[in-house]
Amino acid sequence: MMMRAVVKGIGHYLPERIVENAEFEATLDTNDEWIRSRSGIERRHFAGEGETTSTMATAAAKKALAMAGLEADDIDAVIVATSTADLTFPSAATMVQAQLGMKSGFAFDIQAVCAGFIFALSNANALILSGQARRVLVIGAETFSRIMDWTDRSTCVLFGDGAGALVLEADEGNGTSDDRGILSTDLNSDGTHRDLLYVDGGSSTGTTGYLRMQGNQVFRHAVEKLSKTATTAMETAGISSEDVDWIVPHQANIRIIQGTAKKLGLSMDKVVVTVQDHGNTSAASIPLALSVGVERGQIKPGDLVVTEAIGGGLAWGAVVLRW
Ligand code: ACO
Repeated sequence: MMMRAVVKGIGHYLPERIVENAEFEATLDTNDEWIRSRSGIERRHFAGEGETTSTMATAAAKKALAMAGLEADDIDAVIVATSTADLTFPSAATMVQAQLGMKSGFAFDIQAVCAGFIFALSNANALILSGQARRVLVIGAETFSRIMDWTDRSTCVLFGDGAGALVLEADEGNGTSDDRGILSTDLNSDGTHRDLLYVDGGSSTGTTGYLRMQGNQVFRHAVEKLSKTATTAMETAGISSEDVDWIVPHQANIRIIQGTAKKLGLSMDKVVVTVQDHGNTSAASIPLALSVGVERGQIKPGDLVVTEAIGGGLAWGAVVLRW
C-alpha cells in the first residue's frame, strides 16, 4: 500500500482576445512565416482589461473543481505557479483562495518560471505524501503580455496568457507503476545561467521590468536538459519510453518539442502540442496542454503521461504520472 496524489479534475481558461502572428507585422520588422517556422507559434491569447493572473487562475480552478465534483472548501491547499502574480505580494494563490470563497486551508505561489508547474506538482505531491494536505489545487497561470517589451521582436511574438488548473487528491495505490497518480518527479536548477532569461525589474529597481531572453542560448540547453530530466523521472518511476502514452511538454517552441521527443525515442503522435494556438504561456503551458489534451480525447484515464519543462533560472524538471 502506498499513498499517491491522483488527478481528480482539470480545467483551463484562455482570454477571449486572440492575436494572430500577422498582427505583429504592423508594428515590428517580423512576419508570420518567421514566427511560424522558428517557433511553431501561429497565434496566442492576451488578457483583456481587468483580467489578471489571479482571475484567470480562478476561472481555470472553478472548472477543475467542477470536474472533480468538489467545492472550494474541500481543498486543503492552493498552489499557483506563476512569474506574473498580480502584485509583488500577496501571492496570486491567496487572491485565488479569496476569489473561490475558501475560508480555510493555505495558499502560496511557486516561482520557477516556465518550469513552475513541474515544481508546483512536485511540491503538491510532497504535501500529499507527507500528510500535510489531502486535496491540493495546483494551478499554472500567467500574463506574460504585461512584461513584454513590444519593441523587441525576438521576445514579444513568442509569449501568451492563460491558466490551467488541476485537483490532486490522496488515494491509495499498490506502489507499482500501474498506480494512478504521480509516480515520480525530478527537479533541477542552475542559477549560473541567470542572464539567459530574466525580467529586468523587481525589488532592486522599483519597477516591474520587461522580459529579456537570449533565445538561441536557452535553446541550446533545452533539448539536452529536458531529455535528461524526463529520462531520470522515467527511470525513477520504473518505466521506459515504450510504456509512455503521452509526452506533455512545456510549449515554448515546436523545434524544442520535436528535438526532445526524438531524443526520448518517441514519435510526435505521442506528444500533446498546443504551442501553435497558445504561444509560450510559461507556467500555464503544461496545465493548459493537459486540459486541452483531455478535451481533445487524447489523454484518457489510465494513460501514462510524462511532463517536462525548462525556463528561467535556469530551472527544469519532469513529472511522470498515470492519468
Ligand atoms: N522576426 C524576424 N526576425 C527575427 C525575429 C522576429 N520576430 N526575432 C529575431 N529575429 C532575427 C534575429 O534578429 C536574428 O537576426 P540576425 O541573424 O540578423 O542577428 C535571426 O532572426 C535569428 O535569431 P535567433 O535568435 O538565432 O533565432 P532562433 O532560430 O534561435 O529562434 C527563438 C529564436 C524562437 C527565440 C528560439 O531561439 C527559441 O525558441 N529559444 C528558446 C526559447 C525558450 O524555449 N524559452 C523557454 C523558456 S521561456 C521562460 O522560461 C520564460
